[in-house]
Amino acid sequence: MHQNLLKYQKYRYLKFTLLLLIGSVILYLSQGQAQPANGGTVQGYVLGTVAAFLVLLLTYLGIRKRLYSSSTGTVEGWTSAHVFLGSALLLIATLHAAFQVGWNVHTLAYALMLMVIFSGFFGLFAYLHYPRILSQNNAGANQDVWLQELHEIDSKIKDLSSSCRGNIRLLLLSALEHTVLGDSLFSQLLGHDNSTVKLQSDTKKLVANTNQQQVIDIVAENMPSSINQAEASALNKILSLFSRRQILLKKIRRNLQIKAYLKAWLVFHIPLSIALIAALIVHILVVFIYW
Ligand code: HEM
Ligand code: HEM
Repeated sequence: MHQNLLKYQKYRYLKFTLLLLIGSVILYLSQGQAQPANGGTVQGYVLGTVAAFLVLLLTYLGIRKRLYSSSTGTVEGWTSAHVFLGSALLLIATLHAAFQVGWNVHTLAYALMLMVIFSGFFGLFAYLHYPRILSQNNAGANQDVWLQELHEIDSKIKDLSSSCRGNIRLLLLSALEHTVLGDSLFSQLLGHDNSTVKLQSDTKKLVANTNQQQVIDIVAENMPSSINQAEASALNKILSLFSRRQILLKKIRRNLQIKAYLKAWLVFHIPLSIALIAALIVHILVVFIYW
């Protein structure tokens, strides 16, 4: 769907948006006879009303997406229109304000509009690029398959750990227990690995086990001093299981990171849209009270 977003119906909404922009520029240029160009001329009012109408229409997309029973257009069509008309708003609102953007309550609406639009640009970029990056990272597999394999590896490590001496066994079980995946949205975005491990049984202190490296190093160090043949063979297998675990965790974390990029911008886009509508109401009330 996302690849066709911009080309939808042979660029239907791009063409419509260009016509709207040409009309807006003509309207803007027709000012200046009776009154200098500004938001309060007849043309200024028309441009402001079109801009406010667009804001409401764009916000409706959120509702429309969830109304599966609605027959007014397709979600794809609405999204294509959303992207083009949302970008056009930048020029239409600027022409409405006749480039007079100062430090006042009107500019709050303008500033919020800019933030919504620029977060939208990031969203569009994410929608167009990340699904491809996601499928490259997946390379035919998917997160559920990796999670299943991870689960199997963890069971094998648990079984093998019973052949190891006490402190090593505790170390291994603690590394499994304190492996962190998909905690906060922020960590997911940064791809941070907050996994930890307990090195000694008599302490509560956990140390960082980023990329499972700490536990891998300790297992490797302890292999030459294995207490018996069974432990040596178990540690050997455990080491290769942890190496596989390391790869799987990296892949899953990258997957979560890409999915977080696809979600995170909406955390700005949606609340900012609501704040924009509130600021617009204030803007309109203020101009009507003081005009
Ligand atoms: C997205 C929608 C809108 C935005 C972002 C916006 C923003 C602005 C900005 C930045 C100004 C310039 C303020 C200044 O001179 O410092 C302005 C002026 C003005 N706007 Fe809007 N506006 C919008 C919609 C509307 C609507 C719907 C109306 C009325 C129905 C309206 C009426 C006016 C008036 C009368 C002025 C002139 C005020 C003055 O010069 O003091 N605006 N607007
Ligand atoms: C003032 C202008 C805008 C407003 C008020 C607005 C508002 C919204 C709202 C309410 C949603 C629904 C989110 C949801 O429920 O999932 C949305 C989604 C979206 N917006 Fe905007 N937006 C604006 C401008 C833009 C711009 C300029 C772009 C990109 C160039 C853009 C790109 C998107 C995209 C890609 C989505 C996701 C659509 C989907 O999930 O299918 N928006 N926007």
